[in-house]
Amino acid sequence: MRGALRVTVTGGCGFIGSNLVSWLLRHPGIGRVTVVDDLSTGSTSLLGGDLTHTDFRQGSILDAGLLEAAVAGADAVVHLAALPSVPRSVADPVATHHVNATGTLQVLEAARRAGGPLVVAASSSSVYGAQSGLPKSESLRAMPLSPYAVSKLATEAYLGAYHACFQLPVLPLRFFNVYGPRQQAGHPYAAVVPVWIDAVLSGRPVTVHGDGTQTRDLTFVDTVCEVITTAITGPVTSPWPVNLALGTRTSLLELTGLLGDVLGAPLRVEHAASRPGDVPHSQADPTRLLELFPHTRAVPLRVGLERTLAWHRDQQGARSPSHVRGSR
Ligand SMILES: NC(=O)c1ccc[n+]([C@@H]2O[C@H](COP(=O)([O-])OP(=O)(O)OC[C@H]3O[C@@H](n4cnc5c(N)ncnc54)[C@H](O)[C@@H]3O)[C@@H](O)[C@H]2O)c1
Repeated sequence: MRGALRVTVTGGCGFIGSNLVSWLLRHPGIGRVTVVDDLSTGSTSLLGGDLTHTDFRQGSILDAGLLEAAVAGADAVVHLAALPSVPRSVADPVATHHVNATGTLQVLEAARRAGGPLVVAASSSSVYGAQSGLPKSESLRAMPLSPYAVSKLATEAYLGAYHACFQLPVLPLRFFNVYGPRQQAGHPYAAVVPVWIDAVLSGRPVTVHGDGTQTRDLTFVDTVCEVITTAITGPVTSPWPVNLALGTRTSLLELTGLLGDVLGAPLRVEHAASRPGDVPHSQADPTRLLELFPHTRAVPLRVGLERTLAWHRDQQGARSPSHVRGSR
């Protein structure tokens, strides 16, 4: 392993970013963590006491000067800042393009001017879109179905281009459905796990869009943090996208059952219309991931849900209704 590494994390006050920052600060090989975040969807409160151990710079990745200063001297940049929502991109495609595609270009430019640190960036399984076969292998042609997916395809393509043109070491990672502590429920574009946990803890029914047979490759956030940390300390690079999920497959109806089991009471389920841009099934082929990161193992869904629920209970405390308070 190399000496104490300096890492810049964009979007470090978000769900995955704040988990990653805590993970990096605990790693003996990491010397300094700089965070760039405009707090549009994230919050410094997610970093808790770790905030005081980071070099936090509030501002947008679209601000070239701010980014250049934050990336100067970095050994690695982990680029997570984005507007991370399919429905939001359908409502406002241009805003998503600016932050996700143009923002990635700005990050790569800052890295190029800084002498070429490793750039690890978050892409998304949504790039597979209309590809119906399972599991999703990186060799399949991307067929995005939403502006968000297009912006993520641009993200990984720009990383590949900066590797080809400027020899920048890069690693585009296709995240699947990541869940875990610090994932927020209280906004219109929140993901299914925190929204459902929040609903149950507040005594409300959970809403399933469509018939619930759609499947997801749910990835516990620690797996993402572990892979990225290994990539930085390795370093591990790839100009081609790499799926970051382990090939698990859970339907939304199965998820309601397991969550009810973990909570100790069955969930009340309401069905609503499918949302435009949502993909029916998603499951990674993890072959390339396991070639590059052979020690990666899936966290069992039940274990991950229990840890996620514990975090939500800490947050919501006394708001838990009596019918779930006595759960295991
Ligand atoms: N959570 C998932 O399941 C998932 C799946 C696929 C891909 N991803 C990708 O992973 C990354 C992290 O996602 P997340 O779930 O932690 O989302 P999040 O919304 O919790 O985090 C995104 C962070 O980026 C910040 N941000 C947004 N626009 C910014 C800008 N212009 N400048 C600086 N900061 C900005 C936000 O304030 C937030 O802190 C995103 O790139 C997302 O597209 C996530």
